[in-house]
Amino acid sequence: MKDKVKDAYESSKNIYDDVLTQGNIFSQLYIKLFWSGTDDNVIAQKVLSYIPDDFKGRLLDVPVGTAVFTKNKWISLKNAHITCLDYSQDMLEQAKNRLNEQTHIQCIQGDVGNLEMNDETFDIVLSMNGFHAFPDKMKAFQETWRVLKPGGDFIACFYIKGKSKRTDWLVKNILSKKGWFTPPFQTEEELENILEKLYQILDIHIDGSMIYFHCRKR
Ligand SMILES: C[S@@+](CC[C@H](N)C(=O)[O-])C[C@H]1O[C@@H](n2cnc3c(N)ncnc32)[C@H](O)[C@@H]1O
Repeated sequence: MKDKVKDAYESSKNIYDDVLTQGNIFSQLYIKLFWSGTDDNVIAQKVLSYIPDDFKGRLLDVPVGTAVFTKNKWISLKNAHITCLDYSQDMLEQAKNRLNEQTHIQCIQGDVGNLEMNDETFDIVLSMNGFHAFPDKMKAFQETWRVLKPGGDFIACFYIKGKSKRTDWLVKNILSKKGWFTPPFQTEEELENILEKLYQILDIHIDGSMIYFHCRKR
C-alpha cells in the first residue's frame, strides 16, 4: 500500500502544484466539476491562519508534500523550529528546494504512522491534505496525538465522504485506484467522534467535501 502511494506521488510530482492551486484551465475545470469549486488555496489560508504569525515553538508539518501552500508561512516564522515530513522522497525534494537555506526548517522522510520523534515534542502538528492519502489513518491519528504536547494544537484539512456524490465517485473510482487517496474515508460524524476522544475541538468547518479544523490536546 505504501509503495502504491509512493508511486502515485512520484508520477504526479510535476503536475501536483498546478492541480492543487488551480494553476491552469484544466485544473480549474477539474475542481469546478468534481469538487464543487472548493478552493484548496482558500482552505490552506484558513488553516494557516490558526497558526499565530509570531509562533515561536516547535511545529510538525505532516505531510509537507511540495510545501506549495506552507512555504511562505514557514519561512516567515523565523523563531519557530519547523519539521517537515513526507513519505514520498519525490515530493520532499521539491519541499527541500523551496525551503532551502532556512536554518529553522528541517525536511525529513518518514511515515506518519511510525514517527521517529519522542512523545510530546511539538506545540503544533499541521496536517494539510494528508489524512485522505494516509494508508493507516488510525495510526496517523495516534502518532500525531502522541508527538503533540498537552495543550498543543492539532490543525488539519482533508477530504471526508458523504458530502457530494460526484466527489465520492471520483475519490472511489479514480483517486483511490491511482493511489493519491487511500480508503477507508470518514464521514463528518465519524471524524468528529475520533477527534472528540483525543482533543477539545476549538473550530471546525466543512467546505464542499473538505473539512478543516483546529483542535487542542487535553
Ligand atoms: C495530497 S498531498 C498533500 C501535501 C501537502 N500537505 C499539500 O497540502 O500540498 C499528500 C501527501 O501525503 C504523503 N503521504 C502519504 N502517505 C504518507 C505517510 N504514511 N507518511 C507521510 N506522508 C505520507 C504523500 O507522499 C503526499 O506528499
